[in-house]
Amino acid sequence: GEGGHIEDFDFSFEGPFGSYDQQQLQRGLQVYTEVCSACHGLRYVPFRTLSSESGPGIPEDQVRAYADQNFQVFDAEIDDLRNATPADNFPPNTSLGAPDLSMMAKARAGFHGPYGTGINQFLKGIGGPEYIASLLTGYTGETIEQAGTVLYENHAFPSGYISMPPPLSGDDVEYADGHESDMHNEAKDVAAFLMWAAEPKMMARKQAGFVGVVFLTLLSVLLYLTNKRIWAPIK
Ligand code: HEM
Repeated sequence: GEGGHIEDFDFSFEGPFGSYDQQQLQRGLQVYTEVCSACHGLRYVPFRTLSSESGPGIPEDQVRAYADQNFQVFDAEIDDLRNATPADNFPPNTSLGAPDLSMMAKARAGFHGPYGTGINQFLKGIGGPEYIASLLTGYTGETIEQAGTVLYENHAFPSGYISMPPPLSGDDVEYADGHESDMHNEAKDVAAFLMWAAEPKMMARKQAGFVGVVFLTLLSVLLYLTNKRIWAPIK
């Protein structure tokens, strides 16, 4: 098996004016909840942020019900598990050796090179969400056994073989918004959700960056004109 093949998915949040698609984040949350959370934690993400307008934008009462119905967290005060509330973070899940997904979309680079120049990243993006979506759709169906462990051949995983069994096969969830749930859509939606989880303030960052560029452009024009005026008598 050969790994490292990353498909360039189109995400709504790409480019200087890109933004998260609320419906897509909600669908991705549904995939995470119904499929990925069986093995993966999301320990740095607070439930209350699910109602963020620049995020999934789920009404607060629904977030409360969602946390209560789907997750239990360990409470040191009562030394026991209890149902989660919006004030809690998603629980960790270390039972199966699966890595936490809170930062995964920023911990992986989908695109490299050529030759260390970073041009691919500049054109296509760093590619964390593309990597995740490619990983989820990159299984070939072949397996090998290594030291008693079954490994699944996967075109995106760097070594070509991963210990995560294929989590998606299409129609794993029935989307609340009725959207088509083939494997490609599920993978893309959960990848978008994980991008938001890793960078919930992306839109604010892009906006601040844009304002910065506008100011600097204006400053350059003023400095140019000032410079011309200062040197005018000498020319
Ligand atoms: C690894 C995503 C479901 C078990 C990973 C990685 C990602 C990921 C991004 C890291 C790959 C890397 O290191 O580059 C997801 C998503 C899921 C999902 C988005 C839901 C759609 C599951 C399920 C299980 C599982 C249901 C358990 C049956 C694992 C394990 C690893 C892993 C054991 C470590 C693999 C290795 O390093 O060989 N997953 N996963 N995952 N996942 Fe999942």
